[in-house]
Parts: sequence; structure tokens; C-alpha cells
Amino acid sequence: MRRQTRSIAPLWYLERGFRVPISLFKGADHNFQYRHGSVHMIAPWWQAGVIYQIYPRSFQDSDGDGIGDLNGIVQRLDSLAALGIDAIWISPIYSSPMADFGYDVADYCDVDPRFGTLADFDELLAQAHARGLKLLLDFVPNHTSDRHAWFVESQASRTNSRRDWYLWRDAAPDGGPPNNWISDFGGSAWEWDGATGQYYYHAFLREQPDLNWRNPAVQVAMHDVLRFWFDRGVDGFRIDVLWHMIKAADFPDNPPNPAWQPGMGEMHRVLQFHSADQPEVHAIAAAMRDIAGGYSATGDERVLIGEIYLPVERLMPYYGGERAEVHLPFNFQLIDAPWEARALARLIADYEAALPPGGWPNWVLGNHDRPRVAAKRGQAQARVAAMLLLTLRGTPTLYYGDELGLSDVAIPYERVRDPRELREPGLGLGRDPVRTPMAWDASENAGFSTARPWLPLHEDWPTRNVAVMAEDPASILALYRQLLTARRAHPALAIGDFALLDSAGDVLAYERRQGAQRLVVALNLGAQVQHLDLPDWAGGCPPLLSTIPGPAQIEGRALRLRPNEGVILAPA
Ligand code: GLC
Repeated sequence: MRRQTRSIAPLWYLERGFRVPISLFKGADHNFQYRHGSVHMIAPWWQAGVIYQIYPRSFQDSDGDGIGDLNGIVQRLDSLAALGIDAIWISPIYSSPMADFGYDVADYCDVDPRFGTLADFDELLAQAHARGLKLLLDFVPNHTSDRHAWFVESQASRTNSRRDWYLWRDAAPDGGPPNNWISDFGGSAWEWDGATGQYYYHAFLREQPDLNWRNPAVQVAMHDVLRFWFDRGVDGFRIDVLWHMIKAADFPDNPPNPAWQPGMGEMHRVLQFHSADQPEVHAIAAAMRDIAGGYSATGDERVLIGEIYLPVERLMPYYGGERAEVHLPFNFQLIDAPWEARALARLIADYEAALPPGGWPNWVLGNHDRPRVAAKRGQAQARVAAMLLLTLRGTPTLYYGDELGLSDVAIPYERVRDPRELREPGLGLGRDPVRTPMAWDASENAGFSTARPWLPLHEDWPTRNVAVMAEDPASILALYRQLLTARRAHPALAIGDFALLDSAGDVLAYERRQGAQRLVVALNLGAQVQHLDLPDWAGGCPPLLSTIPGPAQIEGRALRLRPNEGVILAPA
């Protein structure tokens, strides 16, 4: 069938005033059709775009309680649009007792008063859409809060109609827990309920009982939650701990982990062989995709992203087989990868090779659970990492504050809030250090709040903030903006093919190509000068962008990379 096109650039380009060297047509299927020379390429927004994760407690406080909120996010939407991202994912905002800061949901269809109201949410969505930004929510299907009305009923008696909505089991013959499963936050994953004489299962805190997804009524209720938010207009969901959702039906013991050491945290004592990544989870993911697909038929595609910490070969099935599952199973490999050129090249090649046909890649450098990239790699390499993230093939997800080069913030003991830290202190497992407030300017509390922030700010906030760094062309914020502009201006970067280039020493180099458009990305992952022999076609290419101010040094086919320098070369 002939694709209908309208010669109108989508609003999200026009409103932000971008000049792009391509003409854009919006097709009848609401995907964007890029025309560059004779090349026609179709890319949905979630492939060409860049996602930005907001931890809502820490983004912007609008009501002076030291905690960020939805109206605060609205205040900062212009700043996000100026940064050049395309979609926002907000960590949970639902009603919650906050035992795990919103990942313990008491009502999936309401907003917690700390964050605002449903009306505030609608306003945020409208304001985001008015700026051409998509908005994704965090769906937490594996567990609820123990205060959720469903669990309150389930706990009330063994005969309650919702008893089977959660995972209740009798004690082992010795009276102990039904098996050896360990909570991800330490301790047994089973909690004794004296009143009804059974244990319930919780993969995380005891305040987060796991739902029984084998029960069709649970599936119906949770599908209704997806519809509730899709009906309001959200553009998709990040799905919390997707691979945890189904456990082996007979609850056998997990095998011990032979590599376990105390510093790893108690959860790693056993391998989560029976408690996660069970075959039946794929039908659950496919059913969610069907729901998202039903909404996509009436507008831009609604997207599902799965939080899945698994090795690559076990990650790929979450794209789906005969039935589609999530659009993007999060690829967290860069967070823990050895920061070494050959190892990274292998990791990238292996990931690309493992993708199923039609599977679109994605990359992540950090999130609200993992150490920040600047803490792991240092400030100089954080810039190189930014270039890597934004030039690899696939959808990048940025974590708020990484564009400022925020590092992990040391939290004094009396200010620790994360239950992960409080339950297993001193192992470095706590997540408060990566959840500290965003710094907007040099005013009181960095413009985040008029009150004392719920977590301390980084010490250098008077200079490490958006307002100051936006004025400094050498800042990491300026680099992020340039990279995002470059992605937008070059389809080769946003959606083009990828090929590694021969390189040696600390250099990781690759080509991105879209039709006639070819670019070279060369990254020096070390602190010494490095050289790269460019391919013939790239000889004499002028640099488009460097992570270090000052012109990159190229003579013919010889590229000289300064210590910690990454460059993009684009033929004129
Ligand atoms: C996910 C979230 C994490 C949370 C956990 C339990 O891993 O990212 O923050 O603690 O799920 O919901």
C-alpha cells in the first residue's frame, strides 16, 4: 500500500526551532519518515529519540517541602526541551507509603500527594506534549505496597477472595520459611503472618508483597492500570523488574552461588534460578505489549521498556518471539563494563550480534539504582562516556544530573534514607548517593527547593548547576547539548547503521552510516595520546565535535586523539 505523506514537519521539530538537513514527513502510520537524498528510512520516535530519566523526589520542588513534585517538573520542561531530549521517564509517582520511595504502590491509579494530584499529572502531560516531549511512567507490576487495598484484603483471612492475589505458602515442616529464597534487600524473602498462619513472598522489602501473576484476576486488574494511564495519554512505561514477575510454580530452593562473598550483599548467596526469569514471564510481557499496541493504532506508538538485569542471551527473548514483548529490554551492560577499548568493542559487537531480527538496541549509563557514571569513570571519561552513549546505535536513556557530571554524593549516616542501605549498611549498596537533588542555579538550595532538600546536594553545586554550566561552552552540559543537537541533525547518528573500525591501544572507533551520510566516532578511553588510522573515505574529514575544547588534530588519514578525547568526524 502506498504510504501517504504530509509535507508537514512534526510539531516537536518545529516548536524547538531545529534546522535539520533532511525533510520530514509524517506518515499515515504516525512514524517519522526521514528523507535524505534518495534514502527513505522510517524510524518511530522511540528509536530516533533520547529518553531522560527523572527521579521525581529530586528534580524540582514547587511547594517548599524539600521533595520534588510534578509541578516542579513542569517548571523545568523548557530546560529539558533546550537540552534536546525527546522523552521523559518518571520514576513512580503513585500513592505510596514510600517504604521504597514509590516502588511500593498503594494505589496505581492515583498520584501521591507529595508529588501532586491527578490534575497536576494531566497538566504535566499536556505541557510535555506541547513541547513535543513524550512522557513515560514507571509501571510496578511485580509487587504492591503492603498497604494496597488488595493486600489488606488478601491478608485478612485465608478465605478472602483476594487471598490468591499474592503468594501465600505454608511454613516448612520446621516452621521456617517455605524455601531458601532471599530478598534482594537482604534477609529471607518470606514474611510470617501470625494471624493467618502462612508466609507471604516478597522479592524486595516485606512492605512490598509480590503479586501472583498466575492468577488471571491479577492480570485483568493490572492490565486495567495500563489502560487507565494510556487513556490519559501517556506514551509508554518502563516496567519495573519485569524478569521477576513469575516464579517457579512449585517454589523449589534456589541453588547456592559458589562465587558468593559477603561484600556482594546477601541476595547473591543464592542464584535466582527459580525465583526469576521463568519461561511463563514471556506471555505476561506479550499481553502487555498487546495492550500498548491497541493504543498505538490510534496515534504515535506507545512504548514498553523492560527493566531486566540478565546476561545478554537471556535478555534478548524479552523482545519477543512469535508474539512481540517489550520494545526495549534495558541494556545495562555499559554500567559495569570494563572501561577498556577492546573489551567495550567486544561487548558492543556481541550485543549487536545477539539482537533478534528487528530488535532495536538501547544503551544506559546510569539510573536511580546504580553508581553514577562520573563516580565510576571519573570526570574526564564521563565526557567520553556521554559521546559513547549518544553515538552508539540504539535508543539512549540519560539519567538526570549526568549532564552536569554529578557524581555519587557521600551521605552522612544520619541522613541515609534508602532501605537498601539501612538493611545492609556499609557495603556500598545504598542508592541515596545517586538520588540527590538536581542543581539548577547558584541560589539557595541550588534552585531545587526553598526548604532543606530531602537528601543533601553535592558540595560543588554553586558551580556545578545548570545555569552556570549553560554559560560555559567547555562544560559537560554544553557537551551533552552539542551531542544531542548532533544526533538530531544527523540521521546517521540517530538511526543509522553501525560498524566497528579497526583501532588499537585505548581507541574505540566506529562508523555510523545512513545512506550517503557517514560519520566516524573515535574515543580515547585512556589518559595518553592515541592515534587512529582513518578509513580512506574519512581521510580529511573535518571534526564535527570533540569532548575537549579546541580542534581535533587530523592530518590526512591520521587522527591524533588527546588524552580522554572523543571526536565525531563528519565529511563536509
Ligand atoms: C527496581 C527499581 C528499584 C526498586 C526495585 C523494587 O529495581 O529500579 O529502585 O527498589 O525495583 O521495586
